[in-house]
Amino acid sequence: MSSPYVFLLVSIALSFTCTCVAQTSWISRICSMSRNSIVCYRALMSDPRSSYNDIKILGEIIIYKSQAATQAAINVTKSVENNDNKEIIETCIETQNDAKDMLKECLVLLEKARYDEPSKSALNNAASAALTDVGTCDDEFGSSEPPKLKRASRYAQDLIDVLLVISKMI
Ligand SMILES: *[C@@H]1O[C@H](CO)[C@@H](O)[C@H](O)[C@H]1NC(C)=O
Repeated sequence: MSSPYVFLLVSIALSFTCTCVAQTSWISRICSMSRNSIVCYRALMSDPRSSYNDIKILGEIIIYKSQAATQAAINVTKSVENNDNKEIIETCIETQNDAKDMLKECLVLLEKARYDEPSKSALNNAASAALTDVGTCDDEFGSSEPPKLKRASRYAQDLIDVLLVISKMI
């Protein structure tokens, strides 16, 4: 093998190594700070755009995942409705929808958060509000919460918590 060729191969190998190290850095920093690191890693790594290692893109990914998980929680909430829990269910759906509105707002704020302090703190507030909104349903049900709903609600909150972490790091 001629030496320029070897040099090229070594360069390519090095560039891969460096990219890989860089790629995992934002994700590992974010996920190690989040309350459910496994959910965090799975959610972020499942989107190929996470390889850009860009905190704003990671924020977008987690907002989309949080929106879907909140919608899934709304669907589960509707599915467990019965004659005895109608009022609680109504509160749950209302606050889960509030969370979806907050997450939509987060998507707008994320665009500016990196360059603008007020947007960054507004993003943090909106993410925090979304987290509280989703948790309201658990509080309403207390110990009588159907396990299926509890799981769906916790999953949505684990994802929104990642957004909260990102809002502090961005
Ligand atoms: C929730 O239910 C709607 C309508 O029933 C359905 O279109 C949607 O795919 C469901 N979403 C999730 C995330 O389960």
